[in-house]
Amino acid sequence: MSRGTLTFHVLAMHIDRCYCFEKTFAELKTVAEATGATRVAALQEHVVFGQQCTLCHPYVRRMLRTGATVFHEILTEEDEPNECCQG
Ligand code: FES
Repeated sequence: MSRGTLTFHVLAMHIDRCYCFEKTFAELKTVAEATGATRVAALQEHVVFGQQCTLCHPYVRRMLRTGATVFHEILTEEDEPNECCQG
């Protein structure tokens, strides 16, 4: 057996949208900037997203807070709490 090059295939996580409504976070960011929306509920007044599974909500909150539009990790409500429930 020869020694060859060991190749790793890394499956990078790439989360960039509300999958239920096919709205990218980049699109949502543009709407947020145009409307001044700083919360999920306010953004939903201008664009339809996040009304089914709601798994995108922590990502949208992170996007609104940091400007990031592509994520490589799972975010949960614990990571980005709903603004209604913050102290
Ligand atoms: S991913 Fe946004 S509502 Fe399901």
